[in-house]
Amino acid sequence: MPILPIVTYNDPVLRQKAEPVAELNNEVQVFIDDMFETMYNSDGVGLAAPQVGSSLRIFVLDADNMMDDDEEKPGPMAFINPEIVEKKGMKIPMDEGCLSIPEVTDKVIRPETVVIRYKDEDFEDQEIEASGWLARVIQHEYDHLEGILFIDYLSVFRKRMHKADLKEIEDGERETRYPIRPKI
Ligand code: NI
Repeated sequence: MPILPIVTYNDPVLRQKAEPVAELNNEVQVFIDDMFETMYNSDGVGLAAPQVGSSLRIFVLDADNMMDDDEEKPGPMAFINPEIVEKKGMKIPMDEGCLSIPEVTDKVIRPETVVIRYKDEDFEDQEIEASGWLARVIQHEYDHLEGILFIDYLSVFRKRMHKADLKEIEDGERETRYPIRPKI
Protein backbone atom coordinates (compact mmCIF):
# COMPACT_ATOMS: atom_id res chain seq x y z
CA MET A 1 0.00 0.00 0.00
CA PRO A 2 1.46 3.35 -0.93
CA ILE A 3 2.06 6.19 1.49
CA LEU A 4 0.37 9.29 0.12
CA PRO A 5 2.06 12.70 0.31
CA ILE A 6 0.30 15.15 2.61
CA VAL A 7 -0.66 18.56 1.25
CA THR A 8 0.31 21.61 3.26
CA TYR A 9 -1.97 24.18 4.85
CA ASN A 10 -2.03 26.68 1.98
CA ASP A 11 -3.23 24.15 -0.62
CA PRO A 12 -6.71 25.12 -1.94
CA VAL A 13 -8.00 21.53 -1.53
CA LEU A 14 -7.91 22.09 2.26
CA ARG A 15 -10.32 25.01 1.84
CA GLN A 16 -12.96 23.17 -0.17
CA LYS A 17 -16.07 21.58 1.28
CA ALA A 18 -15.51 17.88 0.60
CA GLU A 19 -18.00 15.79 -1.43
CA PRO A 20 -19.97 12.84 -0.02
CA VAL A 21 -18.92 9.31 -0.99
CA ALA A 22 -21.67 7.77 -3.17
CA GLU A 23 -20.77 4.11 -2.77
CA LEU A 24 -18.19 1.90 -1.18
CA ASN A 25 -16.35 0.51 -4.18
CA ASN A 26 -12.93 -1.06 -4.36
CA GLU A 27 -11.29 2.27 -5.15
CA VAL A 28 -12.66 3.83 -1.95
CA GLN A 29 -11.62 0.79 0.13
CA VAL A 30 -8.07 0.92 -1.20
CA PHE A 31 -7.99 4.68 -0.61
CA ILE A 32 -9.04 4.23 3.04
CA ASP A 33 -6.32 1.60 3.54
CA ASP A 34 -3.80 4.04 2.09
CA MET A 35 -5.06 6.76 4.42
CA PHE A 36 -4.46 4.53 7.46
CA GLU A 37 -0.99 3.66 6.22
CA THR A 38 -0.21 7.33 5.58
CA MET A 39 -1.48 8.30 9.04
CA TYR A 40 0.56 5.65 10.86
CA ASN A 41 3.66 6.47 8.81
CA SER A 42 3.47 10.09 9.94
CA ASP A 43 2.64 9.21 13.58
CA GLY A 44 -0.62 11.12 13.21
CA VAL A 45 -3.72 10.40 15.27
CA GLY A 46 -6.08 11.40 12.47
CA LEU A 47 -6.10 12.11 8.75
CA ALA A 48 -8.79 13.55 6.49
CA ALA A 49 -9.04 12.83 2.74
CA PRO A 50 -8.45 16.48 1.69
CA GLN A 51 -5.07 16.26 3.43
CA VAL A 52 -3.95 13.80 0.77
CA GLY A 53 -5.49 15.92 -1.98
CA SER A 54 -8.84 14.17 -2.29
CA SER A 55 -11.95 16.25 -1.64
CA LEU A 56 -14.08 13.40 -0.22
CA ARG A 57 -15.98 13.19 3.07
CA ILE A 58 -13.73 10.58 4.68
CA PHE A 59 -11.45 10.68 7.68
CA VAL A 60 -9.58 8.05 9.65
CA LEU A 61 -8.24 8.12 13.18
CA ASP A 62 -6.55 6.06 15.85
CA ALA A 63 -6.41 7.99 19.10
CA ASP A 64 -5.57 4.99 21.32
CA ASN A 65 -2.08 6.26 22.18
CA MET A 66 -3.47 9.58 23.39
CA MET A 67 -5.93 8.02 25.80
CA ASP A 68 -5.61 7.29 29.49
CA ASP A 69 -5.18 3.68 30.59
CA ASP A 70 -8.67 3.53 32.07
CA GLU A 71 -10.36 4.78 28.90
CA GLU A 72 -11.97 2.45 26.40
CA LYS A 73 -9.76 2.26 23.30
CA PRO A 74 -11.72 2.01 20.06
CA GLY A 75 -8.71 1.32 17.80
CA PRO A 76 -8.56 2.38 14.15
CA MET A 77 -11.78 3.95 12.89
CA ALA A 78 -12.86 5.18 9.45
CA PHE A 79 -15.64 7.77 9.14
CA ILE A 80 -17.37 8.04 5.76
CA ASN A 81 -19.93 10.83 5.14
CA PRO A 82 -19.83 11.85 8.81
CA GLU A 83 -22.24 14.32 10.33
CA ILE A 84 -21.82 15.82 13.79
CA VAL A 85 -25.37 15.86 15.13
CA GLU A 86 -24.71 17.24 18.60
CA LYS A 87 -21.99 19.06 20.50
CA LYS A 88 -22.24 19.27 24.27
CA GLY A 89 -20.40 19.57 27.55
CA MET A 90 -17.95 22.20 28.64
CA LYS A 91 -15.83 24.03 26.14
CA ILE A 92 -12.24 23.10 26.88
CA PRO A 93 -8.86 24.22 25.51
CA MET A 94 -6.49 21.51 24.24
CA ASP A 95 -3.28 21.60 22.24
CA GLU A 96 -3.77 20.66 18.61
CA GLY A 97 -1.45 20.12 15.69
CA CYS A 98 -2.02 19.06 12.10
CA LEU A 99 0.03 16.99 9.65
CA SER A 100 -0.69 19.69 7.03
CA ILE A 101 0.85 22.35 9.30
CA PRO A 102 4.00 20.53 10.49
CA GLU A 103 5.36 21.44 13.92
CA VAL A 104 2.79 24.14 14.63
CA THR A 105 0.69 23.54 17.74
CA ASP A 106 -1.66 25.73 19.71
CA LYS A 107 -4.62 25.60 22.05
CA VAL A 108 -8.08 25.33 20.53
CA ILE A 109 -11.31 25.57 22.52
CA ARG A 110 -13.93 22.97 21.58
CA PRO A 111 -16.89 21.23 23.23
CA GLU A 112 -15.97 18.21 25.34
CA THR A 113 -18.45 15.79 23.78
CA VAL A 114 -19.85 15.15 20.31
CA VAL A 115 -22.40 12.81 18.80
CA ILE A 116 -21.45 11.79 15.26
CA ARG A 117 -23.28 9.77 12.60
CA TYR A 118 -21.27 8.16 9.84
CA LYS A 119 -20.79 5.12 7.68
CA ASP A 120 -18.05 2.72 8.74
CA GLU A 121 -15.61 0.77 6.56
CA ASP A 122 -18.41 -1.64 5.61
CA PHE A 123 -20.62 1.32 4.68
CA GLU A 124 -22.88 0.51 7.64
CA ASP A 125 -24.59 3.37 9.49
CA GLN A 126 -23.10 4.11 12.89
CA GLU A 127 -23.68 6.68 15.60
CA ILE A 128 -21.36 7.22 18.55
CA GLU A 129 -20.99 9.66 21.40
CA ALA A 130 -17.37 10.59 22.04
CA SER A 131 -15.59 12.63 24.70
CA GLY A 132 -12.01 13.51 25.56
CA TRP A 133 -9.31 12.86 22.99
CA LEU A 134 -11.61 10.98 20.67
CA ALA A 135 -14.05 13.92 20.51
CA ARG A 136 -11.14 16.27 19.96
CA VAL A 137 -9.74 14.32 17.01
CA ILE A 138 -13.21 13.83 15.51
CA GLN A 139 -13.89 17.59 15.58
CA HIS A 140 -10.48 18.45 14.13
CA GLU A 141 -10.80 15.93 11.28
CA TYR A 142 -14.43 16.80 10.63
CA ASP A 143 -13.38 20.42 10.20
CA HIS A 144 -11.04 19.34 7.39
CA LEU A 145 -14.10 18.16 5.43
CA GLU A 146 -15.61 21.63 5.84
CA GLY A 147 -12.46 23.43 4.70
CA ILE A 148 -11.57 24.57 8.23
CA LEU A 149 -8.10 24.36 9.83
CA PHE A 150 -7.32 24.60 13.54
CA ILE A 151 -5.31 27.79 13.00
CA ASP A 152 -8.57 29.47 11.90
CA TYR A 153 -9.66 29.47 15.55
CA LEU A 154 -6.58 31.33 16.79
CA SER A 155 -6.49 34.98 17.73
CA VAL A 156 -4.72 37.46 15.47
CA PHE A 157 -1.97 37.58 18.08
CA ARG A 158 -1.50 33.81 18.23
CA LYS A 159 -1.55 33.59 14.43
CA ARG A 160 1.18 36.19 14.26
CA MET A 161 3.26 34.00 16.59
CA HIS A 162 3.18 31.27 13.93
CA LYS A 163 3.81 33.53 10.95
CA ALA A 164 7.44 32.51 10.35
CA ASP A 165 6.56 28.80 10.64
CA LEU A 166 3.69 29.17 8.19
CA LYS A 167 5.89 31.03 5.73
CA GLU A 168 8.50 28.26 5.89
CA ILE A 169 5.84 25.63 5.19
CA GLU A 170 4.41 27.76 2.39
CA ASP A 171 7.85 28.08 0.81
CA GLY A 172 8.31 24.30 0.94
CA GLU A 173 11.31 24.67 3.23
CA ARG A 174 10.01 22.81 6.26
CA GLU A 175 11.52 19.38 6.73
CA THR A 176 9.19 16.61 7.83
CA ARG A 177 9.57 12.95 8.79
CA TYR A 178 6.84 12.09 6.27
CA PRO A 179 6.32 12.99 2.60
CA ILE A 180 4.57 16.28 1.98
CA ARG A 181 3.45 17.98 -1.18
CA PRO A 182 3.84 21.73 -0.84
CA LYS A 183 1.64 23.82 -3.08
CA ILE A 184 3.51 24.82 -6.23
NI1 NI B 1 -5.38 18.39 10.64
